[in-house]
Amino acid sequence: MKWDKRKILEIDRKHIWHPFTQMKDYEDRDPPVIVEAQGVKFRTIEGRELYDTISSWWTNVHGHLHPLLNEAIREQLTRLDHVNFSGFTHPYAVEVIERLRRFLPPELSRFFFSDNGSTAVEVALKMAFQFWQNRGFTRRTRFVCLENGYHGDTIGAVSVGGVDLFFKLYKPLTFKTFRAPAPYCYRCPENLDRNFTLEASKPSCNFRCLEELEKIFKEYHEEICAVIVEPRLLAAGGMIVYPAEYLRGLIELARRYEVLTIFDEVATGFGRTGTMFAMEQAGVVPDILCLAKGLTGGVLPMALTVTTERIFQAFYADYLEGKTFYHGHSFTANPICCSVAIANLKLFEDEKPLEKGREVRNYFHRRLVELFSDRPYVGDIRYLGYVGAVELVADRKTKKPFPPEKRVGFRIYMTSLERGLVLRPLGDVIYWFLPLCVTKEEVEEILTQSLAVIEEVVTDLSAG
Ligand SMILES: Cc1ncc(COP(=O)(O)O)c(C=O)c1O
Repeated sequence: MKWDKRKILEIDRKHIWHPFTQMKDYEDRDPPVIVEAQGVKFRTIEGRELYDTISSWWTNVHGHLHPLLNEAIREQLTRLDHVNFSGFTHPYAVEVIERLRRFLPPELSRFFFSDNGSTAVEVALKMAFQFWQNRGFTRRTRFVCLENGYHGDTIGAVSVGGVDLFFKLYKPLTFKTFRAPAPYCYRCPENLDRNFTLEASKPSCNFRCLEELEKIFKEYHEEICAVIVEPRLLAAGGMIVYPAEYLRGLIELARRYEVLTIFDEVATGFGRTGTMFAMEQAGVVPDILCLAKGLTGGVLPMALTVTTERIFQAFYADYLEGKTFYHGHSFTANPICCSVAIANLKLFEDEKPLEKGREVRNYFHRRLVELFSDRPYVGDIRYLGYVGAVELVADRKTKKPFPPEKRVGFRIYMTSLERGLVLRPLGDVIYWFLPLCVTKEEVEEILTQSLAVIEEVVTDLSAG
């Protein structure tokens, strides 16, 4: 189709239903029409540049249109496009695993392919459940999850979610879980006079949130099959950064009560938190790990659910014992997706972006604090690796949020699009989820422009 802005918008408005979007919000405003991208920037149909400050929903790792990733796809298209993965294998899937294993602890040795983060979680939940069933512990059927946790939008993933805004309506469709409090340092009842969470690496508390988790394990462990958590960063729940000690405590409790652990690194994996995987920062290993988004450098959809040998062995039996894992999708281990995942992992190995990016990350954190800490509407500042967030509040002293009807986050989003960047909010939390290729100059421009947008919207609100 030849690009015709008016026509694109007309057909889109008439026929397309966008994700996580109240379509009526676009009744009298147009979404940007993106036609090209390069590095950290998009180009709109009018030729305007727009900083992709959230890495296209937390997927993009090395910047848009990386030549090596593009080349890998092109080459793969001369070899093999697709083959079903039940009863067949191919070298491209094997190479993904061989390369990925170099970055993972050796205990995580069995890999199940699928195609998106929610599915990686569904697979993990079914595996954890069936692990106990296959071994005769039929009462262990329930999951523990965290308030503010998010694991995707399919029904299993929704069941273990803890963000009410997304999940409340679907409750009758979901299974029952135990929800433990989030390690949300800024809003911790023990910590009401605490200012900023910052990187949450120096906790000054007794981890009351872990005590609550232990109460659940203690009373119900014989009914619990697993606990699921996002390591070090509750992403969709508000970019909540929490101390590594919490994760270590969670693992210790789970082991004590013989509960399986599922780490969801769909958002945090592949360098985003400053290490290849966030769990490394706590020095812990789960029974099951979920990966997606950045696995292909954020270019094509692919996911993995990774387990220990112990989990795998609970399924490994003569066919008639009925222990098979009945799960699979049409595009499991698609070779084109594999080819770009291989190129992504090769980039991590050859170019060491995390080592090279240390100075940029430090600069990002320092400038976040310098620019935002004196603003009366900034309640909390938190950061980890390439992720940073400010939580906006109506009253800094009491931490009172802005009234929801003011739609502060949404207004900031809309204004940001006019000012050359994408500030997608999570409620009134404004965040940056940057790709690993970002430079100091880009960080500076993104943060100063962001501050100007936020200041403009908040000032406007106060005036109105
Ligand atoms: C931690 C986490 N898990 C799972 C998902 C779901 O992934 P997908 O959108 O690929 O289904 C997300 C998506 O943002 C996520 O942040």
